[in-house]
Amino acid sequence: MAETHSAYTDTESLIRLLDVAERLPGAVALRERGYELLRPPPGATVVDVGCGAGRAVADLAERGCRAIGVDLDPGMLAAARARFPELDLRSADVTALPLDDGAALGYRADKVYHMLQEPAAALAEARRVLAPGGRIVLVGQDWDTMLVDSDQGELTRRIVAARADTIPRPRIARSYRTLLLDAGFREATLEVHTAVFTDPPTVSLLEKHATTARDAGAITDAELKGWLDEQRERAAAGRLTLAIPMFLAAATR
Ligand SMILES: C[S@@+](CC[C@H](N)C(=O)[O-])C[C@H]1O[C@@H](n2cnc3c(N)ncnc32)[C@H](O)[C@@H]1O
Repeated sequence: MAETHSAYTDTESLIRLLDVAERLPGAVALRERGYELLRPPPGATVVDVGCGAGRAVADLAERGCRAIGVDLDPGMLAAARARFPELDLRSADVTALPLDDGAALGYRADKVYHMLQEPAAALAEARRVLAPGGRIVLVGQDWDTMLVDSDQGELTRRIVAARADTIPRPRIARSYRTLLLDAGFREATLEVHTAVFTDPPTVSLLEKHATTARDAGAITDAELKGWLDEQRERAAAGRLTLAIPMFLAAATR
């Protein structure tokens, strides 16, 4: 298989991070905006590719869609099935979806394309499964433009850059619109919504980034400790700020 199915060694820890992120009010609003852009007619088949623990598949089913979730990671699918036993969840790669040609009217991929080595192949597959007039929505962050309030600016920049460098395609989100057009989609649009995190549980996201930077050799153990100590103090004092520009692209087949 040519594509990386997980940038994380530990599915459990990814699920915990996603659980923190997906419950924040901004994340809920962003998902809603994505559903609006998909505009599925009642009963339409919509596939959520890289569905993770299944939140969006459940949302789409609640909205009256015939929602199908697809993921490659058995741990993710197990978590999704445990949370939402009634959902249609399937194991497959983004480049070989278990749907007939033109079977879907909606295709959604949220925080997935940055993991793919061959996004063009994934978009060709999206075009195959979408009927003419079907809608596609891609959501994700640009990993090079994560903003963290810190007294240690230079160290913060190194942590963000080192974390981005561990991602297969860290800047793909800024290319979403162009990729959709190049893949033959029309009416492509792009929006950027800044996700702002100030709640204490956000520290777990920052721990992941800083620890990854240390593991990559970009910062020392002492720098990791100093940086996280500051962020934990900020969290305890209600002074934590993380802002992430989230790109939301949509187009028509
Ligand atoms: C960061 S998670 C996002 C999950 C979910 N979309 C969300 O927003 O919470 C990315 C998901 O994409 C899945 N994934 C990555 N590469 C994939 C591939 N080639 N085919 C299918 N799923 C893939 C991973 O297993 C993981 O569940």
